[in-house]
Amino acid sequence: MIIAIDGPAASGKGTLGRRLAEHYGFAHLDTGLLYRAVARVLMDRGIPLTERDAAAEVARNLDVGHLEDDARLRGAAMGESASVVSAYQPVRDALLAFQRQFGAKEPGAVLDGRDIGTVVCPDADVKLFITATPEERARRRHRELLGRGEQAEYETILVDIRRRDERDMNRSTAPLKAAADAMTLDTTHLDADGAFQAALDLVESRRASMTRA
Ligand code: DC
Repeated sequence: MIIAIDGPAASGKGTLGRRLAEHYGFAHLDTGLLYRAVARVLMDRGIPLTERDAAAEVARNLDVGHLEDDARLRGAAMGESASVVSAYQPVRDALLAFQRQFGAKEPGAVLDGRDIGTVVCPDADVKLFITATPEERARRRHRELLGRGEQAEYETILVDIRRRDERDMNRSTAPLKAAADAMTLDTTHLDADGAFQAALDLVESRRASMTRA
């Protein structure tokens, strides 16, 4: 059983993915971390993000099963850099097999990202597309950063989110978009628990129709 979750930056898809995986006892992969890890290696080696061939080489050699997961990897700067390298087709190609293998885990897997329902797992049993307005996503990110004691400006975060949406949706390779058979969940007016309950209801409705079929 595969649950594919896609959506824009800061839409809450990662949290939803983790909670759904816990609920069903499935494995969970936040695929954004793979692109973030590629960006991190390039930055650590002082290689410009515009070096496509170097980015592809890093992606091919990435130890995908053992990513060092820390605050820097999950930070806003790495998200922005990940968005740049993720637009390169050879980088995406290098990371595809691992994601597909992960999707085959038993008894099931939840993968979240931008192209899970469209490219990585087009035959996923359940596909969710999580959205919220850019303003609401910026508000959430702002609250989260302030809560961690970090300095953050709402307006700057909003500009960053809009730029990332623009890049992720308009790239030529695997752009962010809902799969034709995805169920869209707009979480703008939902809190975290409300979003989880709504997502769970959607997954259950799809599972019920699968057993009837
Ligand atoms: O979900 P995230 O913020 O960690 O993702 C960081 C960037 O990685 C995102 O802006 C685009 C890219 N990405 C992608 O292209 N495909 C995915 N499946 C996941 C992330």
